[in-house]
Amino acid sequence: MSLKTLATSPLSVITFVVLLLALYLRFSIKFDSAQPAQRLFNAEELALFNGTDEGLPILLGILGSVYDVTKGKSHYGSGGGYNHFAGRDASRAFVSGNFTGDGLTDSLRGLSSAEVKSVIDWRDFYSRTYKYVGKLVGRYYDSQGNPTKYLKGVEAKAARGAQLLEKQKTEEAKQPACNSRWSQGEGGEVWCEVGYPRLVQRPLEIAMTGKMSRRCACFEESQLGQTGLELYEGCDYHANRCKA
Ligand SMILES: *[C@@H]1O[C@H](CO)[C@@H](O)[C@H](O)[C@H]1NC(C)=O
Ligand SMILES: *[C@@H]1O[C@H](CO)[C@@H](O)[C@H](O)[C@H]1NC(C)=O
Repeated sequence: MSLKTLATSPLSVITFVVLLLALYLRFSIKFDSAQPAQRLFNAEELALFNGTDEGLPILLGILGSVYDVTKGKSHYGSGGGYNHFAGRDASRAFVSGNFTGDGLTDSLRGLSSAEVKSVIDWRDFYSRTYKYVGKLVGRYYDSQGNPTKYLKGVEAKAARGAQLLEKQKTEEAKQPACNSRWSQGEGGEVWCEVGYPRLVQRPLEIAMTGKMSRRCACFEESQLGQTGLELYEGCDYHANRCKA
């Protein structure tokens, strides 16, 4: 059958449409079944899966995504070192390390973009390592299971954090970092194979973390007059090794 008859014969057109429909259904069903099972939890329901009841899986929430961490029972189960993450969403504690009282919250209020990025990285870790089982209705998902404004805000902030981090990496690659070592007996030491060690501000650090930060970079003779370079205390102008 030529293309022309295919296009003009009504029967072929119908066959063609049916075929398209069948293909569409087949793939949409396939797509649906590839989606992870979606269960919606509220905080009270999630709390039951805290590892106390041996007959129940152990579940953990992060940014409102719920994962089954039963295979990590020795950590997440009763008495395990990460048990405080079980049966709740303690997103903030992944970066704050505060596992007491109000530290175990899903609020990321006031965290820097670098910290928020790090919580997103943790969620990526769980989605790679454990089985996704559903969503926690609350701060990150509404009662329909749709992402809230808060989640979108968090993801946008993390994206800015990631961008800044990338930019910082590129910028700093232009000026080689000092070698460094530290020992109990001798304290810290920095040195350059080529050039001279100087302390410099990391301007993007403020935007990312809200904190001032400096790093040690190696500068050649011709660059030493640049503004913003600070000599290590007690170190000679032309020393290539300094106590830090
Ligand atoms: C932990 O889970 C058990 C049942 O699985 C439940 O009875 C208990 O109340 C939960 N603990 C908390 C603090 O929610
Ligand atoms: C942990 O968080 C709680 C509540 O926000 C706070 O009172 C406490 O000082 C924090 N602990 C540490 C070690 O930061």
